[in-house]
Amino acid sequence: MITKQGIENVAHVLAVASGKGGVGKTTIAINLALALQAKGYAVGLLDADVYGPSIPVMLDLHETPAWEDKTMIPVRKFGLTVMSLGMLSEQGQAFIWRGPMVGKAINQLLGQVKWGALDYLVVDLPPGTGDPSITIAQTIPEAAVVMVTTPQEVALADVRRSVELFRNYDLNIVGLVENMSYFMCGHAAEPIEIFGSGGGLKLSEELELPLLGQIPLDLAIRAGGDNGHPLMTASPDSEAGQIFQMIVDKVLEEVDH
Ligand SMILES: Nc1ncnc2c1ncn2[C@@H]1O[C@H](COP(=O)(O)OP(=O)(O)OP(=O)(O)O)[C@@H](O)[C@H]1O
Ligand SMILES: [Mg+2]
Repeated sequence: MITKQGIENVAHVLAVASGKGGVGKTTIAINLALALQAKGYAVGLLDADVYGPSIPVMLDLHETPAWEDKTMIPVRKFGLTVMSLGMLSEQGQAFIWRGPMVGKAINQLLGQVKWGALDYLVVDLPPGTGDPSITIAQTIPEAAVVMVTTPQEVALADVRRSVELFRNYDLNIVGLVENMSYFMCGHAAEPIEIFGSGGGLKLSEELELPLLGQIPLDLAIRAGGDNGHPLMTASPDSEAGQIFQMIVDKVLEEVDH
């Protein structure tokens, strides 16, 4: 169990991080959360991207969380327990932002939300090595981290910095997920590697982190993000869906004990 106040009934925290923006952290956090849930675990999803929360759009959430005393009640969607600053009314956001620090906002999202008993709390981090990542690393040293990268060199440099941050705080980095690895074009027999190839593997060898999986660029993944029906709800047994399931199996081998 986690020792931090507010999430003491959460068995495992799994943060999804990357040094770089737009590589698919939120998409992967959502689909990993759903894949865990499909295995029978009680799963929560915390949108820690306080600058640009995108989980409400990607899960098509319109509810505003209720308050009980000074605690927020997370909403339920697709069986997940979800909290995002993007769901709060302006007053709610003001409550969170009364503290000047982003770190304080993250602490409130952990400590003043009725998460209840969860097997996994998946945390979607914003890009970079700023306050949200530092707060999670400092306050939940038990958290496991999944790092997301795309194959090209410019993404890798940012990911190295992010790995360094989590290692400095001694967090368990479970491995790397390479996203947008290739595209299967209907007309070509061979996968097209739009962002180059081999980046994830190279980084995995260099940083001695397992490469947990390579997710293709997939129209259904993009559409699922836009229409609020993530791939793992719409087509869990598709090729990309099976890759998410395989990644979750590898994460569980590392974390579930
Ligand atoms: N494998 C994929 N195939 C197709 N589209 C994808 C894939 N992964 C992510 N996307 C799309 O790319 C966009 C960016 O993804 P996402 O928001 O998950 O990235 P992010 O790393 O969380 O971004 P940010 O740094 O802004 O938080 C979204 O529109 C998403 O649907
Ligand atoms: Mg995101």
